[in-house]
Amino acid sequence: MVRDFAPLYDVNASYEDNYEHGPFGAFGEALEHEGDGVAAPSADGQSNEDRFQSFLGNMVREPFGIPAGPLLNERFATAAFRMGFDLAVYKTVRSRQWGCNPFPNVLSVHPKNKSGFLVPGNAELDEGVLADTHYESPVSISNSFGVPSRDPDVWQPDMHKAIGQAGRGQLLIPSFQGSRTPEMDTQAYIADHVLTAKLVAETGASLMEMNTSCPNEGHNRLLCHDPRLVGEITDAVKREIGDLPLIIKLAYIPTDEALESMLRNTVARGSVQGIAAINTISAKLVDAQGGQALPGEGRERSGVCGNAIRQAGLDMVRRLAALRERMDLNFAIIGVGGVLSAQDYVSYRQSGADAVMSATGAMWNARLAQEIHALKQ
Ligand SMILES: Cc1cc2nc3c(=O)[nH]c(=O)nc-3n(C[C@H](O)[C@H](O)[C@H](O)COP(=O)(O)O)c2cc1C
Repeated sequence: MVRDFAPLYDVNASYEDNYEHGPFGAFGEALEHEGDGVAAPSADGQSNEDRFQSFLGNMVREPFGIPAGPLLNERFATAAFRMGFDLAVYKTVRSRQWGCNPFPNVLSVHPKNKSGFLVPGNAELDEGVLADTHYESPVSISNSFGVPSRDPDVWQPDMHKAIGQAGRGQLLIPSFQGSRTPEMDTQAYIADHVLTAKLVAETGASLMEMNTSCPNEGHNRLLCHDPRLVGEITDAVKREIGDLPLIIKLAYIPTDEALESMLRNTVARGSVQGIAAINTISAKLVDAQGGQALPGEGRERSGVCGNAIRQAGLDMVRRLAALRERMDLNFAIIGVGGVLSAQDYVSYRQSGADAVMSATGAMWNARLAQEIHALKQ
């Protein structure tokens, strides 16, 4: 049981409470102490900057950080930088204010198969996976927020401030997505992505990530299951943002054929410079009596993240790296999914990831980035 952790995001409080009062634990303390994340000269007297690595046109101390999700606003991003997470993704924003799913949004998830991994195709994902409030190590959780967003009048100045909080060798990456409302046709949906990207660029961002993979919107089909539409959208977004690198965030895509089609419609056309994968894996979540674990309509299924999805994340990264070589393409791979330890970071890098990020792992282990920095000493 891991009930004594001091979380970055308090899973026992509402999203609003977290937004207003977080971050908590060691991250909250870091917010009060400036300078913790700034690169210091190494013991051998060499400037650490000699070891910075290029990532989408930016020099980064260690290509490790926190993906879209746990960093709700500038305070969270600043704390992450100070805790040594050199890449900080500002939680996905929209073109308009958007409400959050009701509390609770996070539950502990307990796969029953022996490996502890959930890979699309596992019967368990449709039969039901136990979800409750008993958090155990290695941790897997549900994530059912519905991608809430403040109005741009609120998030634009906050994101601008967050960008300015990055230390040397650190980078703030804004995440955004389109919002589909019932009256929208496809052109309006594309235009909403373009507008949101424009609003993000106005904050002074030097790159951005577009989420195509949220399983929490009540749709069975994700945007990333339609490579042609993703291609249309990313072409239009790229025309708007010009030279700024564009990353797309993908869910797990089971076949190489579909993945290749995604790359042909995006990277090969020059509109996308990075692929972040994976987002959460959709599962039916049940309580101990077999009933629906998360209350409310449309919440029978939820995205699962953490330990259970590491195998799927590593698989996507390996296949992306193989396709990158075979198709002779040049793009950055950002590996995400179940990174709980420094060894998991190494596994992702060895599988072909240029950068690695951890959401659940960072929520449960505030020192994760420091443990990864220690690998180099
Ligand atoms: C609390 C929380 C909120 C999240 N919100 C978003 C989001 O707004 N946009 C997004 O693209 N992914 C979001 N994610 C998904 C993560 O970016 C990541 O893809 C997923 O959690 C897998 O990584 P992990 O196993 O390290 O948690 C969220 C994850 C968590 C835990």
